[in-house]
Amino acid sequence: MNSDNHLTHVGIIMDGNGRWARSHGLKRIEGHKAAEKSIHDAVEYCGEMGVEYLTLYAFSTENWKRPKAEVIFIMTLLKSFIKRNIDDLDRNRVRIRAIGRLDDLPRGPLNELRNAMKRTGSNEGLNLILALSYGGRAEITDATIKIARDIEAGHMQASEITEDTITSCMYLPDVPDPDIIIRTSGEQRLSNFLLWESAYSELYFTDVLWPDFRRVHLEEAFEDYRSRRRRFGDLDSDR
Ligand code: FPP
Repeated sequence: MNSDNHLTHVGIIMDGNGRWARSHGLKRIEGHKAAEKSIHDAVEYCGEMGVEYLTLYAFSTENWKRPKAEVIFIMTLLKSFIKRNIDDLDRNRVRIRAIGRLDDLPRGPLNELRNAMKRTGSNEGLNLILALSYGGRAEITDATIKIARDIEAGHMQASEITEDTITSCMYLPDVPDPDIIIRTSGEQRLSNFLLWESAYSELYFTDVLWPDFRRVHLEEAFEDYRSRRRRFGDLDSDR
């Protein structure tokens, strides 16, 4: 067992809110509401475990296709979530950040998010990164546009492009790749989450629906992660 695996960056695909609501005879939006407690647990536990970055997939580029009322509800929830929790997060030195096509967000939630990022910008605790209107393909597309513009402007040549060039054009280039990506609710796919950054991430799937996901489940995921051998394409050192 390799217990030296560091957990610097944890990514979570928070899935199963709708099914949780249905199983309790509630409307889908109640599942999103119930997600807040799980987010609290994840932030608290990651902070305690010395995780430096926690990225939560809160809203994908594809989620805009959901019924308008649900989209509006999630956006309103995002705003009220930040309002309700900002004092507490700030007190706990959490730095709020975001990835995604943020300009797509409605003005209210976007302003709340921008204020929260500004207010917590110098905090040195957990980086809580909200993926909002986020898609891995959109991120790679946006990076490609940046690079193409640099070439057009004569700042670089196509032959100079390396993997590091592309990494440096991602939304948050200072954030290391995720060590583990957790997906709840039994689905086993990445659904366009951190496609570039997840090249060597360990993937962890659990049947637990996101609103039921508590620190005990995160403990289980971290325990599983610690037992894995990360080789990054190399041979095992004991072979
Ligand atoms: C997945 O469950 C969940 C979402 C697409 C939205 C997640 C949104 C939140 C947790 C709330 C807003 C974010 C913050 C940070 C407050 P699903 O609806 O796809 O569930 P299903 O697959 O069971 O239908």
